[in-house]
Amino acid sequence: MRIDILTLLPELIESPLNHSIIKRAKEKGIVEIHLHNIRDYSTNKQKQVDDYAFGGGAGMVMCIEPIDLLIAKLKSERHYDEIIYTSPDGEIFNQHKANFLATKENLILLCGHYKGVDQRVRDHLITREISIGDYVLSGGELAAAVITDCLVRLLPGSISDETSALTDSFQDNLLAPPVYTRPADYKGWKVPDILLSGHQQQIDDWRHQQSEERTMRLRPDLLEGDE
Ligand code: ADE
Repeated sequence: MRIDILTLLPELIESPLNHSIIKRAKEKGIVEIHLHNIRDYSTNKQKQVDDYAFGGGAGMVMCIEPIDLLIAKLKSERHYDEIIYTSPDGEIFNQHKANFLATKENLILLCGHYKGVDQRVRDHLITREISIGDYVLSGGELAAAVITDCLVRLLPGSISDETSALTDSFQDNLLAPPVYTRPADYKGWKVPDILLSGHQQQIDDWRHQQSEERTMRLRPDLLEGDE
């Protein structure tokens, strides 16, 4: 998979994409992540990338031209499956959408800023808008980092234990069961006996029951549908 991230603040997104699972996935050639500074595509002398809103109002608006030039350049080099704009107005991101996007070959993530982008970017250049939740961030970079992290860990080979991503919370619309490690008894707080029993089938059944019980208690909405 290849992910191109278009941003005004590449520094903001560099660090989260250079550690742990993502770092290893990049080293193994499972994913390529390219950061592009939209400012590099500004055609005016001041390298301006935003302007006042027509009709007035507070806040600057990101201009269409540098974004269009950058997207056109990328599209001339390869086909993109989706060109995603990160915005609080978008469809809410969840595991179901992550699983779908993780099957794609090439993605663009466009990070919004200021009061947003010129509406014509949204009308003509992107294929979908994604929000990571009903709250407003200062920019789309953190959202792009969240989406990228979530997708990369789903790519085959990213996680050494292949079943691990599949047993994450939200796969099957269930929260993950509790996990424990040594010591088996800490200050009298004991690990459930079943996990020490060695009966794998019973352990699997117990974990499934725990997942169902936790989901019912903490996130009953997940049991109502797969969106
Ligand atoms: N940009 C600002 N807020 C956002 C959000 N909640 N999700 C995605 N992008 C955003």
